[in-house]
Amino acid sequence: LDNGVALTPPMGWLSWERFECNTDCDVDKNNCISEWLMKEMADVMVANGYRDAGYAYVALDDCWLAHERDERGQLQADPKRFPSGMKALADYLHQRGMKLGIYEDIGTKTCAGFPGCMGNMQKDANTMAEWGVDMLKFDGCNAHIADYDYGFPAMARYLNSTGRHIVYSCEWPMYKKAQGGTCNYTAIAESCNMFRQLTDIYDSWYSVIGMIEYFGDDPGNFSQVAGPGAWNDPDQVVIGNFGLSHDQERVQMALYAILASPLMVSADFRKIRKSSQDILLNPGVIAINQDPLAIQGKRIRNVMKLSIWTRPVQPVGSYAIAFLYTQESGSPIKASANLTSDLGLTDSRGYLFTEVFENDVIGKFRSTDIFTCFVNPTGVVLVKAEPIRNSH
Ligand code: DGJ
Repeated sequence: LDNGVALTPPMGWLSWERFECNTDCDVDKNNCISEWLMKEMADVMVANGYRDAGYAYVALDDCWLAHERDERGQLQADPKRFPSGMKALADYLHQRGMKLGIYEDIGTKTCAGFPGCMGNMQKDANTMAEWGVDMLKFDGCNAHIADYDYGFPAMARYLNSTGRHIVYSCEWPMYKKAQGGTCNYTAIAESCNMFRQLTDIYDSWYSVIGMIEYFGDDPGNFSQVAGPGAWNDPDQVVIGNFGLSHDQERVQMALYAILASPLMVSADFRKIRKSSQDILLNPGVIAINQDPLAIQGKRIRNVMKLSIWTRPVQPVGSYAIAFLYTQESGSPIKASANLTSDLGLTDSRGYLFTEVFENDVIGKFRSTDIFTCFVNPTGVVLVKAEPIRNSH
């Protein structure tokens, strides 16, 4: 969607996977979906370097709404959990250099049963713009398959006509496919800034690797429509929760960088392991994710649970390369790749290889050489290969 925002994949925090539909502020005030949760998360993101690393959006998912619209028929936040209102929440975030994301649904109700936008899209787009919202995640529950191809672009137009720059995150392809339909990815990329491809991610290796493999399979060649303002969305980053090992967390971060995926993290930044925080804040991996060439990478090899993924990055002629090993037991595997025939690195000047997570120079390789590394079980090695110029 050419609306001036999301020129690189959006980064931020999203409530859903970690906090779900916790509305019980009486018993669990620290973790219920509320303005306190949003403000605390924003404060921690500022204090611990997330904002400065690029994680700008603080985004609500389902369950922020009141059960009914107000007397004028407008959306309203739950008054008990958002006593200051949405405008005040947006102001709070903006004062700290952050942005507000909210959630709605194309249908009669959200998935959790709160009021949906059907029949009120224009009015709701205006309300969101008046509040100062910067991102809308638009869900697809409680609607008919025939509503999607019409409704998702309609909301894009209403948001656009408010004049406010709002990142528009759609679940259009996911619902279309779930109901047996086919997707026109070009149309989807023209209407949405990011678009969910598959069902919800969970805090497990099985879920994360399933998502990544689906993006490797790339059915319908959806990778082709990615670019500034339009990103394929493999759902939230779950690094920092309970289900992934250190290596598996690196896999999600590395592969989301290769895939130019939005980095919407659903974790509790108030009590996250240092090792997880370091992965999320790793400047080299974030730089690949946010690379200005804006090309979604691809899986180019996949043999015996060892796969190779590449993404063209700056400076032109360079590649980010991930070696991914999905075996769940045993020892690290030796991965060997001929630069030309396996990796497509044909520049006769040769390449300088750098390991990205630790920012360690590995060495120089000619296009006829073989690059070798060892990859942990359910782990990844992420390298950058840059053509050698005279200055090197
Ligand atoms: C379904 C979506 O796919 C999820 O990401 C989340 O938004 C829930 N609905 C909320 O009810």
